Amino acid sequence: MVAARSRVLATGAFRPISDAIATQTIALLKLAGKRSCAVLDAGCGEGSYLHALASALAAHPELEARLAGIDISKWAIQSATKRAATATFLAVASNRHLPFRKEKLDVIVSLFGFPLWDAFAPTQPPCAHVLLVDPAPDHLKELRTIIYRNVRKTQPPRLDAALASGYRQADEQRITFSFDLEPATLIADLLTMTPHAHRATAEGRATLATKTRLALTGDVVMRTLVKSAA
Ligand SMILES: C[S@@+](CC[C@H](N)C(=O)[O-])C[C@H]1O[C@@H](n2cnc3c(N)ncnc32)[C@H](O)[C@@H]1O
Repeated sequence: MVAARSRVLATGAFRPISDAIATQTIALLKLAGKRSCAVLDAGCGEGSYLHALASALAAHPELEARLAGIDISKWAIQSATKRAATATFLAVASNRHLPFRKEKLDVIVSLFGFPLWDAFAPTQPPCAHVLLVDPAPDHLKELRTIIYRNVRKTQPPRLDAALASGYRQADEQRITFSFDLEPATLIADLLTMTPHAHRATAEGRATLATKTRLALTGDVVMRTLVKSAA
């Protein structure tokens, strides 16, 4: 799973997502106007998005941004360690028990992750932000058309738990893009890195295995949440 995700992300197919995350994070940090700030990728996986964010922040030394990534998977953090800058703090940890002091994190990024809002809230000062990226209804629709008999248009997760923990939604951006993936081994990797790997029909898998090139749609929603001032 970790290696498959690394190979797919290395193609640059999901670059529109990492670009959007970098642009929004930098905008939020500028808005905060602090002399130094801390950003966490919660559930950073094998670290490609964290690495892209570090590169973008390196062009803004005035923000003095310190970066961290945590993931519950030891294998993911081992992989992230190989590509991360030495200044990036990485740890095997759960979103449930974040290894950060109270009100330390100015921005938490959660990409295709499992945010735990009641655990996030104490680690952030008032007016701090969470950037949430989740699949939108057309994400990888061509892949899903092959592997399922009926393709559902799933909506991004609801934010009730975030609201209950003192966050409110401040912004929402839909990021839709096209990309081609080849050869067959990378198409298999794409399936492996998604939750669809466990749900695909046997027939669907067999059909997918015959494909050597796929034209795909990426479709995600990036939501910005802000922690209440009080
Ligand atoms: C779908 S992957 C996304 C990884 C990465 N954010 C990306 O987009 O490439 C979800 C990640 O969340 C991690 N994860 C699952 N539950 C977690 C938890 N409670 N705390 C921290 N990480 C968790 C998994 O190990 C996995 O690396």
